[in-house]
Amino acid sequence: MAMEMQSRRKTMGFLVVLLAFFFIEMAASSTASRSSLSVQNLEVQAQLKLLNKPAVKSIESPDGDIIDCIKLAHQPAFDHPLFKDHKIQMTPNFHPDRAFAEVSLKTKPGPSREVTQMWQLNGRCPEGTIPMRRTKEDNLLRASSIKAFGKKKHKSVPQPRSADPDLITQSGHQHAIVYVDGDKYYGAQATINVWEPKIQQPNEFSLSQIWILGGAFGEDLNSIEAGWQVSPDLYGDNHTRLFTYWTSDAYQATGCYNLLCSGFIQINNEIAMGASIYPLSGYHSPQYDISLLVWKDPTEGNWWLQFGKKYVLGYWPAFLFSYLSDSASMIEWGGEVVNSESDGQHTSTQMGSGHFSKEGFGKASYFKNIQVVDGSNNLREPKGLATFTEQSNCYDVQTGKGGNWGNYFYYGGPGRNPNCP
Ligand SMILES: *[C@@H]1O[C@H](CO)[C@@H](O)[C@H](O)[C@H]1NC(C)=O
Repeated sequence: MAMEMQSRRKTMGFLVVLLAFFFIEMAASSTASRSSLSVQNLEVQAQLKLLNKPAVKSIESPDGDIIDCIKLAHQPAFDHPLFKDHKIQMTPNFHPDRAFAEVSLKTKPGPSREVTQMWQLNGRCPEGTIPMRRTKEDNLLRASSIKAFGKKKHKSVPQPRSADPDLITQSGHQHAIVYVDGDKYYGAQATINVWEPKIQQPNEFSLSQIWILGGAFGEDLNSIEAGWQVSPDLYGDNHTRLFTYWTSDAYQATGCYNLLCSGFIQINNEIAMGASIYPLSGYHSPQYDISLLVWKDPTEGNWWLQFGKKYVLGYWPAFLFSYLSDSASMIEWGGEVVNSESDGQHTSTQMGSGHFSKEGFGKASYFKNIQVVDGSNNLREPKGLATFTEQSNCYDVQTGKGGNWGNYFYYGGPGRNPNCP
Protein backbone atom coordinates (compact mmCIF):
# COMPACT_ATOMS: atom_id res chain seq x y z
CA MET A 1 0.00 0.00 0.00
CA ALA A 2 2.65 2.50 1.07
CA MET A 3 4.71 1.43 -1.84
CA GLU A 4 1.76 2.02 -4.09
CA MET A 5 1.18 5.53 -2.68
CA GLN A 6 4.76 6.39 -3.13
CA SER A 7 4.83 5.25 -6.67
CA ARG A 8 1.61 7.15 -7.35
CA ARG A 9 3.16 10.26 -5.80
CA LYS A 10 6.18 9.72 -7.97
CA THR A 11 4.02 9.42 -11.05
CA MET A 12 2.14 12.57 -10.02
CA GLY A 13 5.39 14.41 -9.52
CA PHE A 14 6.56 13.30 -12.88
CA LEU A 15 3.33 14.50 -14.46
CA VAL A 16 3.62 17.88 -12.75
CA VAL A 17 7.15 18.27 -14.06
CA LEU A 18 6.00 17.21 -17.51
CA LEU A 19 3.10 19.66 -17.42
CA ALA A 20 5.33 22.47 -16.22
CA PHE A 21 7.73 21.67 -18.99
CA PHE A 22 4.89 21.68 -21.45
CA PHE A 23 3.71 25.11 -20.33
CA ILE A 24 7.21 26.57 -20.45
CA GLU A 25 7.54 25.22 -23.98
CA MET A 26 4.18 26.71 -24.95
CA ALA A 27 5.09 30.08 -23.52
CA ALA A 28 8.45 30.06 -25.23
CA SER A 29 7.05 29.14 -28.59
CA SER A 30 4.29 31.69 -28.36
CA THR A 31 6.84 34.39 -27.51
CA ALA A 32 8.82 33.23 -30.50
CA SER A 33 5.88 33.43 -32.86
CA ARG A 34 4.85 36.76 -31.41
CA SER A 35 8.30 38.15 -31.95
CA SER A 36 8.51 36.77 -35.47
CA LEU A 37 5.14 38.40 -36.13
CA SER A 38 6.43 41.71 -34.89
CA VAL A 39 9.59 41.34 -36.99
CA GLN A 40 7.32 40.84 -39.99
CA ASN A 41 5.28 43.83 -38.94
CA LEU A 42 8.40 45.98 -38.69
CA GLU A 43 9.42 44.82 -42.17
CA VAL A 44 5.97 45.65 -43.54
CA GLN A 45 6.03 49.10 -41.97
CA ALA A 46 9.54 49.74 -43.30
CA GLN A 47 8.55 48.62 -46.79
CA LEU A 48 5.40 50.78 -46.73
CA LYS A 49 7.51 53.75 -45.73
CA LEU A 50 9.79 53.05 -48.69
CA LEU A 51 6.93 52.60 -51.18
CA ASN A 52 4.69 55.46 -50.06
CA LYS A 53 6.10 58.94 -50.32
CA PRO A 54 5.08 62.05 -48.32
CA ALA A 55 1.91 63.46 -49.89
CA VAL A 56 1.24 67.08 -50.73
CA LYS A 57 -2.45 66.14 -51.05
CA SER A 58 -4.35 62.84 -50.82
CA ILE A 59 -7.47 61.92 -52.77
CA GLU A 60 -9.82 59.13 -51.78
CA SER A 61 -11.12 57.31 -54.82
CA PRO A 62 -14.67 55.81 -54.87
CA ASP A 63 -13.04 52.38 -55.37
CA GLY A 64 -11.28 52.60 -51.99
CA ASP A 65 -7.86 53.60 -53.28
CA ILE A 66 -5.94 56.49 -51.83
CA ILE A 67 -4.10 58.52 -54.43
CA ASP A 68 -1.23 60.54 -52.97
CA CYS A 69 -0.01 63.58 -54.88
CA ILE A 70 3.73 63.52 -54.27
CA LYS A 71 6.45 65.93 -55.36
CA LEU A 72 8.09 64.96 -58.68
CA ALA A 73 11.50 64.73 -57.02
CA HIS A 74 10.16 62.37 -54.33
CA GLN A 75 9.11 59.61 -56.73
CA PRO A 76 10.50 56.08 -56.25
CA ALA A 77 12.93 56.29 -59.19
CA PHE A 78 15.15 58.57 -57.14
CA ASP A 79 15.49 56.04 -54.32
CA HIS A 80 18.14 54.31 -56.41
CA PRO A 81 21.78 55.50 -56.45
CA LEU A 82 21.88 55.13 -60.26
CA PHE A 83 19.42 58.02 -60.45
CA LYS A 84 21.38 60.34 -58.16
CA ASP A 85 22.60 62.61 -60.95
CA HIS A 86 19.68 61.99 -63.28
CA LYS A 87 18.10 65.15 -64.60
CA ILE A 88 14.36 64.69 -65.21
CA GLN A 89 13.33 65.23 -68.81
CA MET A 90 10.03 67.07 -68.73
CA THR A 91 9.27 66.58 -72.44
CA PRO A 92 10.48 64.03 -74.98
CA ASN A 93 12.86 65.39 -77.65
CA PHE A 94 10.93 63.54 -80.25
CA HIS A 95 7.44 62.16 -80.87
CA PRO A 96 6.65 59.66 -83.64
CA ASP A 97 3.27 61.28 -84.29
CA ARG A 98 4.30 64.46 -86.12
CA ALA A 99 0.91 66.11 -85.74
CA PHE A 100 1.00 65.52 -81.98
CA ALA A 101 4.53 66.87 -81.73
CA GLU A 102 3.55 70.10 -83.52
CA VAL A 103 0.64 70.94 -81.28
CA SER A 104 0.88 69.29 -77.89
CA LEU A 105 4.55 69.25 -76.98
CA LYS A 106 5.01 72.95 -77.65
CA THR A 107 1.85 74.28 -76.07
CA LYS A 108 1.35 72.95 -72.59
CA PRO A 109 -2.15 71.43 -72.44
CA GLY A 110 -4.49 72.88 -69.84
CA PRO A 111 -6.00 70.69 -67.13
CA SER A 112 -8.33 68.12 -68.59
CA ARG A 113 -11.99 67.63 -67.71
CA GLU A 114 -12.12 64.21 -69.28
CA VAL A 115 -12.38 61.42 -66.70
CA THR A 116 -10.34 58.34 -67.53
CA GLN A 117 -9.60 57.04 -64.05
CA MET A 118 -11.99 56.61 -61.15
CA TRP A 119 -10.05 58.66 -58.57
CA GLN A 120 -10.37 61.74 -60.80
CA LEU A 121 -14.06 61.88 -59.79
CA ASN A 122 -12.87 63.09 -56.36
CA GLY A 123 -10.01 65.46 -57.18
CA ARG A 124 -6.86 66.22 -59.12
CA CYS A 125 -3.17 66.52 -58.32
CA PRO A 126 -1.51 69.94 -58.45
CA GLU A 127 1.28 70.80 -60.92
CA GLY A 128 4.73 69.73 -59.85
CA THR A 129 3.35 66.53 -58.29
CA ILE A 130 2.50 63.08 -59.60
CA PRO A 131 -0.44 60.92 -58.49
CA MET A 132 0.68 57.69 -56.82
CA ARG A 133 -1.59 54.85 -55.71
CA ARG A 134 -0.90 54.27 -52.01
CA THR A 135 0.17 50.75 -51.08
CA LYS A 136 -1.70 49.50 -48.02
CA GLU A 137 -0.62 46.98 -45.42
CA ASP A 138 -2.89 44.21 -46.71
CA ASN A 139 -1.47 44.65 -50.24
CA LEU A 140 1.92 43.63 -48.85
CA LEU A 141 0.57 40.86 -46.62
CA ARG A 142 -0.95 39.13 -49.66
CA ALA A 143 2.43 38.91 -51.40
CA SER A 144 4.37 35.65 -51.08
CA SER A 145 7.12 37.72 -49.50
CA ILE A 146 7.54 41.41 -48.87
CA LYS A 147 10.42 41.53 -51.32
CA ALA A 148 8.32 39.80 -54.01
CA PHE A 149 5.57 42.42 -53.83
CA GLY A 150 5.12 44.26 -57.13
CA LYS A 151 7.17 41.75 -59.12
CA LYS A 152 5.97 39.05 -61.48
CA LYS A 153 6.21 35.53 -60.11
CA HIS A 154 6.96 33.79 -63.40
CA LYS A 155 8.40 34.38 -66.76
CA SER A 156 5.22 35.16 -68.57
CA VAL A 157 6.17 36.51 -71.96
CA PRO A 158 4.38 34.60 -74.69
CA GLN A 159 7.03 32.80 -76.70
CA PRO A 160 5.30 32.07 -80.00
CA ARG A 161 8.03 30.12 -81.79
CA SER A 162 9.28 28.12 -78.87
CA ALA A 163 10.36 24.66 -79.97
CA ASP A 164 9.60 23.27 -76.55
CA PRO A 165 5.85 22.80 -75.98
CA ASP A 166 6.41 22.19 -72.26
CA LEU A 167 7.93 25.59 -71.87
CA ILE A 168 4.79 27.15 -73.25
CA THR A 169 2.37 25.72 -70.73
CA GLN A 170 4.53 25.04 -67.68
CA SER A 171 3.88 28.33 -65.94
CA GLY A 172 0.10 28.02 -66.46
CA HIS A 173 0.01 31.31 -68.33
CA GLN A 174 -2.17 31.46 -71.44
CA HIS A 175 -2.09 34.02 -74.18
CA ALA A 176 -3.98 35.15 -77.25
CA ILE A 177 -1.72 37.58 -79.06
CA VAL A 178 -0.53 39.01 -82.34
CA TYR A 179 3.15 39.81 -82.84
CA VAL A 180 5.89 40.96 -85.20
CA ASP A 181 9.58 40.09 -85.07
CA GLY A 182 12.60 39.97 -87.35
CA ASP A 183 13.21 43.71 -87.51
CA LYS A 184 14.33 46.56 -85.26
CA TYR A 185 11.47 48.34 -83.57
CA TYR A 186 11.53 51.70 -81.80
CA GLY A 187 8.07 51.65 -80.31
CA ALA A 188 4.50 50.44 -80.62
CA GLN A 189 0.98 51.63 -80.14
CA ALA A 190 -2.55 50.33 -79.81
CA THR A 191 -6.02 51.40 -78.81
CA ILE A 192 -7.26 48.77 -76.38
CA ASN A 193 -10.89 48.02 -75.55
CA VAL A 194 -11.36 48.01 -71.74
CA TRP A 195 -13.40 45.38 -69.89
CA GLU A 196 -13.58 43.85 -66.42
CA PRO A 197 -12.95 40.11 -66.91
CA LYS A 198 -13.91 37.75 -64.07
CA ILE A 199 -11.10 36.11 -62.17
CA GLN A 200 -11.77 32.67 -60.68
CA GLN A 201 -8.92 32.46 -58.15
CA PRO A 202 -7.35 35.42 -56.34
CA ASN A 203 -3.86 34.29 -57.40
CA GLU A 204 -4.84 34.41 -61.07
CA PHE A 205 -5.01 37.53 -63.24
CA SER A 206 -6.24 38.69 -66.61
CA LEU A 207 -4.52 41.40 -68.62
CA SER A 208 -4.44 43.05 -72.03
CA GLN A 209 -1.25 44.77 -73.01
CA ILE A 210 1.59 45.66 -75.37
CA TRP A 211 4.99 43.93 -74.92
CA ILE A 212 8.13 45.65 -76.20
CA LEU A 213 10.81 42.96 -76.11
CA GLY A 214 14.58 43.06 -76.51
CA GLY A 215 17.00 40.16 -76.72
CA ALA A 216 16.25 36.47 -77.06
CA PHE A 217 14.03 34.69 -74.54
CA GLY A 218 16.99 34.03 -72.26
CA GLU A 219 17.88 35.07 -68.74
CA ASP A 220 18.56 38.61 -69.92
CA LEU A 221 15.30 39.29 -71.75
CA ASN A 222 14.39 42.98 -71.68
CA SER A 223 10.71 43.85 -71.57
CA ILE A 224 8.58 46.99 -71.35
CA GLU A 225 4.87 46.37 -70.87
CA ALA A 226 1.77 48.55 -70.62
CA GLY A 227 -1.96 47.89 -70.65
CA TRP A 228 -4.82 47.10 -68.31
CA GLN A 229 -5.13 44.28 -65.78
CA VAL A 230 -7.37 42.72 -63.15
CA SER A 231 -5.17 41.22 -60.43
CA PRO A 232 -6.73 40.50 -57.00
CA ASP A 233 -3.35 39.52 -55.57
CA LEU A 234 -1.64 42.74 -56.54
CA TYR A 235 -4.46 45.22 -55.85
CA GLY A 236 -6.80 43.46 -53.44
CA ASP A 237 -9.90 43.78 -55.66
CA ASN A 238 -11.34 42.98 -59.10
CA HIS A 239 -11.07 46.43 -60.68
CA THR A 240 -9.54 46.99 -64.10
CA ARG A 241 -6.39 49.02 -63.68
CA LEU A 242 -3.87 50.79 -65.88
CA PHE A 243 -0.49 49.17 -65.41
CA THR A 244 3.09 49.12 -66.63
CA TYR A 245 5.87 46.61 -66.09
CA TRP A 246 9.55 46.47 -66.96
CA THR A 247 12.42 44.01 -66.50
CA SER A 248 15.94 43.78 -67.88
CA ASP A 249 16.59 40.19 -66.76
CA ALA A 250 13.55 38.12 -67.65
CA TYR A 251 11.57 38.90 -64.45
CA GLN A 252 14.33 37.81 -62.07
CA ALA A 253 15.98 40.59 -60.04
CA THR A 254 15.07 43.77 -61.89
CA GLY A 255 11.82 45.52 -62.60
CA CYS A 256 8.32 45.77 -61.20
CA TYR A 257 4.78 46.94 -61.82
CA ASN A 258 3.94 50.64 -61.94
CA LEU A 259 5.96 52.76 -59.51
CA LEU A 260 6.58 49.90 -57.07
CA CYS A 261 10.36 50.09 -57.53
CA SER A 262 12.93 52.49 -58.84
CA GLY A 263 12.77 52.63 -62.65
CA PHE A 264 10.01 54.54 -64.43
CA ILE A 265 10.14 58.32 -64.14
CA GLN A 266 6.71 59.93 -64.18
CA ILE A 267 6.22 63.54 -65.23
CA ASN A 268 2.43 63.67 -65.58
CA ASN A 269 0.10 64.87 -62.79
CA GLU A 270 -3.19 63.51 -64.18
CA ILE A 271 -2.84 59.74 -64.58
CA ALA A 272 -1.95 57.29 -61.78
CA MET A 273 -0.37 53.98 -62.66
CA GLY A 274 -2.15 51.10 -60.99
CA ALA A 275 -5.37 53.16 -60.62
CA SER A 276 -8.78 51.95 -61.85
CA ILE A 277 -9.81 52.86 -65.37
CA TYR A 278 -13.22 54.48 -65.77
CA PRO A 279 -15.62 53.97 -67.49
CA LEU A 280 -15.57 50.32 -68.64
CA SER A 281 -17.24 48.56 -71.58
CA GLY A 282 -20.24 46.27 -71.17
CA TYR A 283 -21.65 43.45 -73.30
CA HIS A 284 -23.94 44.97 -75.92
CA SER A 285 -23.42 48.32 -74.16
CA PRO A 286 -21.24 51.41 -74.77
CA GLN A 287 -17.61 50.55 -75.56
CA TYR A 288 -14.58 52.30 -74.09
CA ASP A 289 -10.94 52.03 -74.99
CA ILE A 290 -7.56 53.45 -74.00
CA SER A 291 -4.71 54.34 -76.32
CA LEU A 292 -1.13 53.56 -75.39
CA LEU A 293 2.00 54.55 -77.26
CA VAL A 294 5.53 53.57 -76.26
CA TRP A 295 8.42 55.03 -78.22
CA LYS A 296 12.13 55.51 -77.98
CA ASP A 297 13.56 58.99 -77.93
CA PRO A 298 16.36 58.80 -80.53
CA THR A 299 18.42 61.48 -78.78
CA GLU A 300 18.42 60.31 -75.16
CA GLY A 301 17.46 56.71 -75.80
CA ASN A 302 14.73 56.79 -73.16
CA TRP A 303 11.50 54.85 -73.74
CA TRP A 304 8.47 57.15 -73.36
CA LEU A 305 4.89 56.23 -72.54
CA GLN A 306 1.80 58.11 -73.65
CA PHE A 307 -1.73 57.42 -72.44
CA GLY A 308 -4.65 58.62 -74.56
CA LYS A 309 -4.30 61.48 -77.00
CA LYS A 310 -2.50 63.88 -74.73
CA TYR A 311 -1.02 62.43 -71.57
CA VAL A 312 2.72 61.88 -71.86
CA LEU A 313 3.20 59.93 -68.62
CA GLY A 314 6.97 59.66 -68.41
CA TYR A 315 9.81 57.38 -69.41
CA TRP A 316 12.01 54.39 -68.67
CA PRO A 317 15.62 55.66 -68.80
CA ALA A 318 17.79 53.90 -71.40
CA PHE A 319 20.31 52.81 -68.75
CA LEU A 320 17.80 50.42 -67.17
CA PHE A 321 18.21 48.10 -70.16
CA SER A 322 20.76 46.17 -72.18
CA TYR A 323 19.13 45.15 -75.51
CA LEU A 324 16.42 47.79 -75.30
CA SER A 325 19.04 50.51 -74.97
CA ASP A 326 19.38 49.95 -78.71
CA SER A 327 16.02 48.76 -80.07
CA ALA A 328 13.30 46.15 -79.61
CA SER A 329 13.44 42.88 -81.52
CA MET A 330 9.81 41.86 -81.09
CA ILE A 331 6.46 43.51 -80.36
CA GLU A 332 3.44 41.63 -79.02
CA TRP A 333 -0.13 42.80 -78.42
CA GLY A 334 -2.89 40.82 -76.71
CA GLY A 335 -4.19 39.09 -73.63
CA GLU A 336 -2.75 36.89 -70.91
CA VAL A 337 -4.38 34.99 -68.04
CA VAL A 338 -3.11 32.65 -65.37
CA ASN A 339 -4.68 29.20 -65.43
CA SER A 340 -3.94 27.70 -62.01
CA GLU A 341 -6.21 24.66 -62.59
CA SER A 342 -7.03 24.83 -58.90
CA ASP A 343 -9.77 22.18 -59.11
CA GLY A 344 -8.04 20.06 -61.75
CA GLN A 345 -9.98 21.77 -64.50
CA HIS A 346 -9.15 24.70 -66.71
CA THR A 347 -9.79 28.01 -64.95
CA SER A 348 -12.91 30.01 -65.78
CA THR A 349 -10.89 33.22 -65.53
CA GLN A 350 -11.87 35.34 -68.52
CA MET A 351 -9.68 37.06 -71.07
CA GLY A 352 -10.75 40.33 -72.71
CA SER A 353 -14.54 40.51 -72.41
CA GLY A 354 -14.80 36.78 -71.64
CA HIS A 355 -16.16 36.18 -75.15
CA PHE A 356 -14.45 34.65 -78.19
CA SER A 357 -13.20 36.84 -81.03
CA LYS A 358 -15.93 35.79 -83.47
CA GLU A 359 -18.60 37.69 -81.52
CA GLY A 360 -17.11 40.98 -82.76
CA PHE A 361 -17.75 44.58 -81.72
CA GLY A 362 -19.62 45.27 -78.51
CA LYS A 363 -19.18 41.68 -77.35
CA ALA A 364 -15.57 40.60 -77.88
CA SER A 365 -12.63 42.77 -76.80
CA TYR A 366 -10.42 44.41 -79.44
CA PHE A 367 -7.08 46.11 -80.08
CA LYS A 368 -7.22 48.57 -82.98
CA ASN A 369 -4.79 50.83 -84.82
CA ILE A 370 -1.87 48.68 -83.82
CA GLN A 371 1.32 50.18 -85.19
CA VAL A 372 5.07 50.01 -84.71
CA VAL A 373 7.68 52.77 -84.73
CA ASP A 374 10.20 51.98 -87.47
CA GLY A 375 13.92 52.76 -87.92
CA SER A 376 13.16 56.25 -89.21
CA ASN A 377 11.00 56.93 -86.15
CA ASN A 378 7.69 56.87 -87.94
CA LEU A 379 4.52 55.08 -86.91
CA ARG A 380 3.90 52.32 -89.45
CA GLU A 381 1.56 49.42 -89.88
CA PRO A 382 3.21 46.23 -88.62
CA LYS A 383 4.54 43.99 -91.41
CA GLY A 384 4.21 40.21 -91.16
CA LEU A 385 1.75 40.11 -88.26
CA ALA A 386 1.36 36.61 -86.84
CA THR A 387 -0.97 35.25 -84.17
CA PHE A 388 -0.37 32.88 -81.28
CA THR A 389 -2.51 31.10 -78.67
CA GLU A 390 -1.72 28.04 -76.57
CA GLN A 391 -5.30 26.67 -76.56
CA SER A 392 -7.66 28.42 -78.95
CA ASN A 393 -10.60 26.48 -77.47
CA CYS A 394 -10.06 28.47 -74.27
CA TYR A 395 -9.01 31.89 -75.62
CA ASP A 396 -8.59 32.88 -79.26
CA VAL A 397 -7.57 35.73 -81.54
CA GLN A 398 -8.59 36.90 -85.02
CA THR A 399 -6.99 39.74 -87.00
CA GLY A 400 -8.51 42.18 -89.46
CA LYS A 401 -7.61 45.30 -91.37
CA GLY A 402 -9.43 48.25 -92.80
CA GLY A 403 -11.08 51.63 -92.46
CA ASN A 404 -10.16 53.84 -89.55
CA TRP A 405 -9.34 50.82 -87.40
CA GLY A 406 -6.17 50.10 -89.40
CA ASN A 407 -4.70 46.81 -88.26
CA TYR A 408 -6.91 45.38 -85.54
CA PHE A 409 -7.84 42.13 -83.83
CA TYR A 410 -10.48 40.64 -81.59
CA TYR A 411 -9.28 38.31 -78.85
CA GLY A 412 -10.27 36.62 -75.59
CA GLY A 413 -12.57 33.95 -74.29
CA PRO A 414 -14.23 32.41 -71.26
CA GLY A 415 -11.58 29.88 -70.29
CA ARG A 416 -13.32 26.73 -69.08
CA ASN A 417 -16.14 25.55 -71.40
CA PRO A 418 -17.13 22.19 -72.93
CA ASN A 419 -14.26 22.49 -75.47
CA CYS A 420 -11.78 23.63 -72.83
CA PRO A 421 -12.35 21.27 -69.91
C1 LIG B 1 -13.45 39.04 -57.03
O1 LIG B 1 -14.26 38.21 -57.85
C2 LIG B 1 -14.42 36.86 -57.37
C3 LIG B 1 -15.27 36.10 -58.37
O2 LIG B 1 -14.92 36.38 -59.69
C4 LIG B 1 -15.07 36.87 -56.02
O3 LIG B 1 -15.16 35.56 -55.53
C5 LIG B 1 -14.25 37.74 -55.06
O4 LIG B 1 -14.92 37.85 -53.84
C6 LIG B 1 -14.01 39.13 -55.64
N1 LIG B 1 -13.09 39.83 -54.77
C7 LIG B 1 -13.31 41.05 -54.31
C8 LIG B 1 -12.26 41.61 -53.42
O5 LIG B 1 -14.29 41.68 -54.60
